Amino acid sequence: MGSNFIKYILARHADWEVVNLDKLTYAGNLENLREIENSPNYSFVKGDIASAQDVEKALGNGVDKIINYAAETHVDRSILAPDAFIKTDVFGTYTLLEAARQHNVAQYIQISTDEVFGSIKTGAFDEQSPFEPNSPYAASKAGADHLCRAYFKTYNLPVIVSHSCNFFGPNQYLEKLIPLFITNLLENKKVPVYGAGDQRREWIFTEDHCKAVETIMEKGEAGEVYNIGTGFEKTNLEITRFILQELGFGEDRIEYVKDRPGHDWRYAVNAEKLRGLGWQPGIGWEEGLRRTIKWYQENESWWKKIKSGEYLEYYKQQYGK
Ligand code: TYD
Repeated sequence: MGSNFIKYILARHADWEVVNLDKLTYAGNLENLREIENSPNYSFVKGDIASAQDVEKALGNGVDKIINYAAETHVDRSILAPDAFIKTDVFGTYTLLEAARQHNVAQYIQISTDEVFGSIKTGAFDEQSPFEPNSPYAASKAGADHLCRAYFKTYNLPVIVSHSCNFFGPNQYLEKLIPLFITNLLENKKVPVYGAGDQRREWIFTEDHCKAVETIMEKGEAGEVYNIGTGFEKTNLEITRFILQELGFGEDRIEYVKDRPGHDWRYAVNAEKLRGLGWQPGIGWEEGLRRTIKWYQENESWWKKIKSGEYLEYYKQQYGK
């Protein structure tokens, strides 16, 4: 997601400079930024947001704004091994906030998730809804968001928190539902649906998410929280069936597997506040999914490289094969 945002911003703001601080853990991939790596407005620092020294390297020449996209994000991995989530998401956010305070940055935006609110049966969470995280991942993001709030209240650091629904699009690491299912099918394999597949998620295409964050950068107010949501709410089976259909497969490709422990049944956010700043989604979920499928079809060498080593080990641990 961070790489999509960098490309989006550099294409639209010729006078902005972007410093990319990335630890390049399993999901990080500099190939995603190849087309802009030689841009005079772009520089890369390999480092960890949880290391004050690394953060200092990135902020060294002075930055106006920090957008924190860095996080461990995959719920299933957080169930298998929560440690990295606490280190990167909680301690990493603290380290960035502390550096932002020392450098007097003009704006700090925390990219967070609707998962901090927990599951909701009907209606949608608004910005005031209480946090009820159910996975170690969601709890680590909730902890980080609380730190953001505290840094605004205590130190008056101009922090903004955004809670987004599930995003999808090109370059997404293969562990997530949509790229996992597309690439499994492109390899003629089955797709593992957890439980009955009746859980519901709200989906946003990457480009619309980039636009939302750009809107928050330009019009958001310090100390405020903004939900990023589209209203495109689908069950996992609806998403699965759409992908199957687009790729010409039938329901026999679905393998119903053991449900995720503590699986949140439904996420939904009310994004009226962000719409009030002039943002609205431009790409419907079907159009976004078609574009995403096409991207994975056309970029087989990108994802084939991932389907080895670390990914296969994770896949075996998670899916038993
Ligand atoms: P995911 O992409 O992991 O995002 P999140 O858990 O953050 O919402 O999962 C989206 C939904 O798809 C979620 O309800 C879990 C489900 N899912 C499956 O059914 N099978 C899978 O193999 C994966 C990865 C997810």
